[in-house]
Amino acid sequence: MSTAMNQRPKKVTTHVLSEMKMKGEKIAMLTSYDYSLARIVDEAGIDVILVGDSASNVMAGWETTLPITLDQMIYHGASVVRGVHRALVVVDMPFGTYQGNSREALTSAIRIMKETAADAVKLEGGSEVIESVSRIISAGIPVMGHLGLTPQSIHKFGTYTVRAKKEDEAKKLIEDAHLLQEAGCFAIVLEKIPAMLAKQVAEELTIPVIGIGAGRYVDGQVLVLHDMLGINQEFSPRFLRRYHNLFAEITGAVQTYVDDVKNLDFPNDREQY
Ligand code: KIV
Repeated sequence: MSTAMNQRPKKVTTHVLSEMKMKGEKIAMLTSYDYSLARIVDEAGIDVILVGDSASNVMAGWETTLPITLDQMIYHGASVVRGVHRALVVVDMPFGTYQGNSREALTSAIRIMKETAADAVKLEGGSEVIESVSRIISAGIPVMGHLGLTPQSIHKFGTYTVRAKKEDEAKKLIEDAHLLQEAGCFAIVLEKIPAMLAKQVAEELTIPVIGIGAGRYVDGQVLVLHDMLGINQEFSPRFLRRYHNLFAEITGAVQTYVDDVKNLDFPNDREQY
């Protein structure tokens, strides 16, 4: 093994995440969709990178996550994997690639694993997709579940408001979480649900529960990278903490460049051949 390989940090695996839960060590997860940003996010020490189907909104400008295709998710997934050495990389299965039947779900998951070299897939839903989840896991592919607000079902609900506030919905969510664990999921994302419900799920399950808008009592947190960096200005839910204002930084840099070109300040003598 080369020296460079020896210096590489230990790869995060599903087993490492399970140990983190047992030790009470919180899991930090962010999305990425391309090589350059994934490289930075990985080197900064993130545990899990999600190649989310939020790429549909963030990268392609669609209003929902529904339009993104399997080929497009594979393109994003493979780009991210090439930039990552340490983090566990999870690729979202896009809408329409696993809901039909479990055979189709397995074919889609196999394509993702073969063509991206990612570590796992994620899909949305509980009992409705449990056959697909089991079949994918039987083929040796790690699956992350996703309950609560499931953006691929937005047209069923018509709103992005907090989910599982009513008792019957909370009961179904708890049952689904147990079903996913029993089927063999290595972790579950809970999106936009009451903090105390998420706490109950995290306490009842032995697998890690990662929250987004699900409060602080879970085993880890996930945010969309472009939201937390402040590239995206329009999206401001209560759960989002902005760690930077990249929108302003990039705007400033571009405006300065435009001025420099127009004022013949760029390029100067040292910047030409
Ligand atoms: O697609 C995505 O970015 C996600 C996260 C919001 C969990 O599924």
